[in-house]
Amino acid sequence: FNTIDDMNLDGKIVLTRVDLNVPVENGRVTDATRIEKIVPTVKDIQARGGIPVLLAHFDRPKGKRVESMSLKQIVPALEEALGQPVKFGDDCIGGPAKRLVASLEAGDVALLENTRFHEGEEKNDSTFAASLAALGGAYVNDAFSAAHRAHASTEGLARLLPAGAGRLMEAELKALDAALGNPQRPVMAVVGGAKVSTKLDLLMNLLDRVDHLVIGGGMANTFLVARGIEVGKSLAERDMADTARAIMEKAEKGGCTIHLPVDIVVAREFKAGADNEVLPVDQCPADAMILDAGPDTVAALRGAMEHCRTLIWNGPMGAFEIEPFDRATNAAAQAAAELTRKDELVSVAGGGDTVAALNKAGVAGDFTFISTAGGAFLEWMEGKDLPGVAVLEAAVD
Ligand code: 3PG
Repeated sequence: FNTIDDMNLDGKIVLTRVDLNVPVENGRVTDATRIEKIVPTVKDIQARGGIPVLLAHFDRPKGKRVESMSLKQIVPALEEALGQPVKFGDDCIGGPAKRLVASLEAGDVALLENTRFHEGEEKNDSTFAASLAALGGAYVNDAFSAAHRAHASTEGLARLLPAGAGRLMEAELKALDAALGNPQRPVMAVVGGAKVSTKLDLLMNLLDRVDHLVIGGGMANTFLVARGIEVGKSLAERDMADTARAIMEKAEKGGCTIHLPVDIVVAREFKAGADNEVLPVDQCPADAMILDAGPDTVAALRGAMEHCRTLIWNGPMGAFEIEPFDRATNAAAQAAAELTRKDELVSVAGGGDTVAALNKAGVAGDFTFISTAGGAFLEWMEGKDLPGVAVLEAAVD
């Protein structure tokens, strides 16, 4: 696919799709990571003589103007990250957008209002996409984390203007290719989260691609049930036990080693600081629930990780949001960080919970790459085509 390097941006208004769907509390941005990550692209477009006009969605206003979902509230954080004023357009098409774009000069940067205030955005409507396209002379997509949506600003626009990937999009795709497309083997995937049912496509796809599959979090309990192990009051999808068994059989045939907990941390209450104990995996009391993996599980995981060259991580190992049930997640994260620092492991992680867990463990900075994407990262790991990426690839063919 084209990147900024392949495009002539000089003197052009460059419609630049970014992801500004960031957490906001009382009108203030509480985590500016996604905003900071688009700075190189904006600066690069400016350095090439282009004027970036940013397009983005915020939340899910469902085609209507909802003031609490205005991108205006993101402007101060964006200005801080870019170190320059940002001109704001009250609508992303029509009069306000046209007037704003007409007023721009070299060195400026502008942001247009939430694309999802228009129904045409999510419908990928061609008239709406054409109204966006009429504003600029080139299109750069830097929103990997929204690339699983076939919307006008993530997909349709790429068909109407000379198109290419921004720096963040490029970095995300390179990192994911290094982890799953063309990785150094052996490859380990760590998959956690509450339910097998929501991660079935993911597990199936990974079985064909990785050498070690570590299953953590609530979904591990379903696998334990499938092995005939009692899990007391733990979260488990008993109706998914057959599926879990089928996954284990497929793994065995294909040479993928599945790692399940060998010891567990159990408690009777789901709350921070609850009384807890470490037990062998098959000794969960009937009135207790499994909230984390135990130290032997972590030691075994670490041992296996030492033999791997690539790690891809989605989902925590336990109830990491309440202490002390964050221990397995922290210890596994620290092991991965240490091996990465020694250049023995390429480590890639993504997904909102996962990134929060790695930040909490204080090791996110040591990973080879942390994706800014939630849903898009998961769909990519599932082996699905992302429309926002596919259209950029097609543009070159
Ligand atoms: C995200 O936050 O993961 C992306 O911005 C996509 O948002 P959406 O799930 O509302 O499409």
